[in-house]
Amino acid sequence: MFISVNFLRMRRIKKFIHFWYRWIPPYIKWSAIFILFLIIFILTHFSSLTWKSFFFRLYYLPIFMASLLGGLKGGLFGALLAVLLSLPLTNNLFPYKLLGFQEICLFLLFGITTGFLVDRERAEREKLKQSEHLALLGKAAAAIAHELKTPLVVIGGFAKLLQKQLLPDDPNWKKLDIILKETKWMQDMVHGILDFSKPVQVKLKPVNFKQFIKDALKLVEMSSNAKIEVYFLTDLPEVKIDPDKFKQVLINIVNNAIQAAPDKPVKINVSTQKNNIVIEIIDQGPGIPEEYQKKIFEPFFTTKNRGTGLGLAIVKRIIEAHQGNISFKSIPGKGTTFVICLPLF
Ligand SMILES: Nc1ncnc2c1ncn2[C@@H]1O[C@H](COP(=O)(O)OP(=O)(O)OP(=O)(O)O)[C@@H](O)[C@H]1O
Ligand SMILES: [Mg+2]
Repeated sequence: MFISVNFLRMRRIKKFIHFWYRWIPPYIKWSAIFILFLIIFILTHFSSLTWKSFFFRLYYLPIFMASLLGGLKGGLFGALLAVLLSLPLTNNLFPYKLLGFQEICLFLLFGITTGFLVDRERAEREKLKQSEHLALLGKAAAAIAHELKTPLVVIGGFAKLLQKQLLPDDPNWKKLDIILKETKWMQDMVHGILDFSKPVQVKLKPVNFKQFIKDALKLVEMSSNAKIEVYFLTDLPEVKIDPDKFKQVLINIVNNAIQAAPDKPVKINVSTQKNNIVIEIIDQGPGIPEEYQKKIFEPFFTTKNRGTGLGLAIVKRIIEAHQGNISFKSIPGKGTTFVICLPLF
């Protein structure tokens, strides 16, 4: 009997917490916190000395609630409010100034710690939700791409066959050419999606990095008329990378840079800094608008008519498989710099 009553109570408390979290708008929650602060303030000021110290410690409750609601900022705000409200009392309650000071420091410590933990937990939860969402999206896309692979080969194959039987001045030749171009684009998309859906496995081997960069960039220069300026700012040691995968990284980022400003040169700085090799790819394009900056590494995010939006998502995964990281700085109207940082093993 006792257990079932307790169980019922626990369920009600859980229900209440759930209700509080999901359905109560933040302004009501903040109002409740302020009212709680006010009640504690009144209780601490108008009670006997023995109860004062008890009520004084109740301030931890609204501080905790404020951190739950506002993370680090909320926790700090709650703690500061508690300090402000309890300051006039500390001399009364704690005959030694140091004790009062310690109590106040504890408020701040509590607010900051709980707020920090709440922020961290929220960020982790968001990351998990996002990765689950991406995994689901990836699975669906991979399944569709897999089904499209064979029909696209058939369409492309037959279109090529038909085109071969026609002369270039035949009006149908142009139509078949368009079909071929479109199928090629769809095939690239399908390959990109299938590539993206597989886990990245790198086979590291020591590479002469200077030569590697020059070779990779030659490939890009051959497929476009862009001008690429490479500067090796320091001596480069041998670097352990997966050359095929890393080539993909460079080609994707440099292609983006060329597409951003086709008439202006792309500058590449390569150097070693501490225990890292750092590659900067600098373009003079229009930059990445502020509202897109958070999204560019997400799969399928693109602002281009003929983009898959998988370039940077694949780049990020390959670099992370090399234990490195990628970041960027972009000034709208001036250009973008992507920075790849790879550890030297
Ligand atoms: N150097 C850059 N300057 C401006 N915008 C950029 C730059 N690099 C990336 N972006 C933005 O990031 C988006 C995503 O880039 P990503 O390489 O992933 O895909 P994409 O280039 O659109 O397509 P794909 O790589 O398949 O051709 C681009 O559509 C573009 O809006
Ligand atoms: Mg791209």
